[in-house]
Amino acid sequence: MSGSMNLKLKVWRQKNGNTPGKMVDYDAKGVSPDMSFLEMLDVVNEDIIKKGDQPIAFDHDCREGICGMCSLYINGKPHGPLNGVTTCQLHMRSFQDGETVVIEPWRAKAFPVVKDLVVDRSAFDRIQQAGGFVSVGTGGVPDANAIAIPKVVADEAFDAATCIGCGACVAACKNASAMLFVSAKVSQLALLPQGQVERKTRVENMVAQMDEEGFGSCTNTGACEAECPKGISLSNIARMNREFYSAVLTSEKV
Ligand code: SF4
Ligand code: FES
Repeated sequence: MSGSMNLKLKVWRQKNGNTPGKMVDYDAKGVSPDMSFLEMLDVVNEDIIKKGDQPIAFDHDCREGICGMCSLYINGKPHGPLNGVTTCQLHMRSFQDGETVVIEPWRAKAFPVVKDLVVDRSAFDRIQQAGGFVSVGTGGVPDANAIAIPKVVADEAFDAATCIGCGACVAACKNASAMLFVSAKVSQLALLPQGQVERKTRVENMVAQMDEEGFGSCTNTGACEAECPKGISLSNIARMNREFYSAVLTSEKV
């Protein structure tokens, strides 16, 4: 696509978590179809700054689909209209010249708004800290193939490990459930020999932390899988449920 585009933006502006927010209209003029969505916001922010106003706050870091920071709800979909694409990898050629684009933050009780489009996703960090690790001295880098792992198992663990912790699954879910994220983190370790240490306490502690953070329950609607930019499978939730019940039923805790 050549030429430039003009768009109307409706952006959620909110000073902080204690102040009510509202949608504010902006014109995005002279947008190149080859710009990423975040570059388009950068250009709009330059205009806002020139006018002496506060720029739109939004999260970003790697801008290449691996850090999970760019959490925006665009036209009613987490990460925008394309499947398997994060906001930072979404290009303006996915929109029409003259289109109105609605941009909101993730909306979930466990992800409170910090400012404008930035939400606090530290609940995910606390879930990871509750058990998403292996607490043994692992030494130096082991020789390749020192621990033989069947290809199909390695592939499944790798697929689970591609979760970038963006939170789109929570934002897409009508219950604001974090089950897809937590199950990916549980699965990537439960599937591998290296993750057998603390296997039971890991799932118990991560699920307990997930509940404490205020995420909702899973009701199997599948919106999380449909909107996940990394294609994390619902089968991880089934695995986490098996891991959890097995851990609880054989737990020595009273
Ligand atoms: S499961 Fe998918 S949507 Fe959820 S945090 Fe991981 S990558 Fe993001
Ligand atoms: S900015 Fe890192 S995934 Fe988008």
